[in-house]
Amino acid sequence: MNLDLLKQKFVEKYGEGEFSGYFSPGRVNLIGEHTDYNGGFVFPCALSFGAYCLIRKTDRKTVKLASLNLPFETEVDVKDLNKPVGKEWVNYPIGVFAQFLKKGIQFENGADILIFGDVPNGAGLSSSAALEMVTAVAVNDTWNLGIDRLELVKMSQKAEHEFAGVMCGIMDQFASGMGKANHAIFLNCDTLDYDLVPVELDGIKIVISNTNSPHKLDSGKYNQRVAECHAAVDAISQYKPIKALADITWEEFKQLEDKIEDQTARKRARHVVSEIERTEEAVTELKAGNIEKFGQLMNGSHDSLRDDYEVTGHELDTMVEEARKIEGVIGSRMTGGGFGGCTVSLVKEEAIDTFIAEVGKNYEQKTGLKPAFYVAEIGDGAKKLF
Ligand code: GLA
Repeated sequence: MNLDLLKQKFVEKYGEGEFSGYFSPGRVNLIGEHTDYNGGFVFPCALSFGAYCLIRKTDRKTVKLASLNLPFETEVDVKDLNKPVGKEWVNYPIGVFAQFLKKGIQFENGADILIFGDVPNGAGLSSSAALEMVTAVAVNDTWNLGIDRLELVKMSQKAEHEFAGVMCGIMDQFASGMGKANHAIFLNCDTLDYDLVPVELDGIKIVISNTNSPHKLDSGKYNQRVAECHAAVDAISQYKPIKALADITWEEFKQLEDKIEDQTARKRARHVVSEIERTEEAVTELKAGNIEKFGQLMNGSHDSLRDDYEVTGHELDTMVEEARKIEGVIGSRMTGGGFGGCTVSLVKEEAIDTFIAEVGKNYEQKTGLKPAFYVAEIGDGAKKLF
């Protein structure tokens, strides 16, 4: 986004005077899907597109919220920043303000806020986490609150739970808040220990393919998966006490899986436990420069999400199948919550044009939907722009 244009829009809306700008990115997850809320590993990276927040503190006792993407605007009294406003997009920033109020922070001043996002909508690239994180960082800075970045990440995740009703793990907000250009984050979602791993792929690019079938990450199906994982933990715990699926190894799971009587919960657990091991292995292979092996593990991840976790569907499966047919594709899988949204593929540079042409044509023929492709750039986490 052209920053000068954004600034101009802010002035047109709220008038001349001083104001600041912040940015927080969307993310793409390379491997480790539906593991975060099970205390497992994830391996996401921040993207170069995300959410922008332009903000000015005012003498009024209200916060004005407007966006360049959507027409809905509102003005909220600073005391009411803990109440959702219908089902509107403003609930993401308001949900974050609510977390500050919960900490006992009282806002004596209001603010003028203008949001702009360039993460493709509903694509499973964390447009909501980007919006939450950019609000958290902007508010923290504007009011000089001194809350550390990790705490802001946790507050943003809480906002998603409480104001969007999605009982998400911490991956998206963490990647948006803590990402680093040209690195992926190997995060242990239990301890929150992490390692920034350089992603220097010689002659290979990360290609994101958008199915343009909006990912229906409504609270329903997502929260159902969370509940099924809890059921598996309860069943296993009768034989070996664990607090999360990350607490057992694949070997242990093989011995205990029969104890999970509910077939669905057993399948869900099989995905999660195997995915956690795949993620750890994938990072080891990447560090050792074994990119082909990394790609095979990505493929394994998708197949497990399709067969055992059942979060893929016709569009994502078709996109992945078509991608894997192209020579020069190292690996391809769905990314994010699933049920539509995007896939991520590692593609040799010389094959990218063919990839976009062939996968695009075949995917459209099979689904009737026109896909979009982005060659990803790994960017930095949330930051002040001016
Ligand atoms: C969504 C959630 C994340 C994570 C992924 C699946 O993006 O917000 O916390 O669970 O789905 O890996």
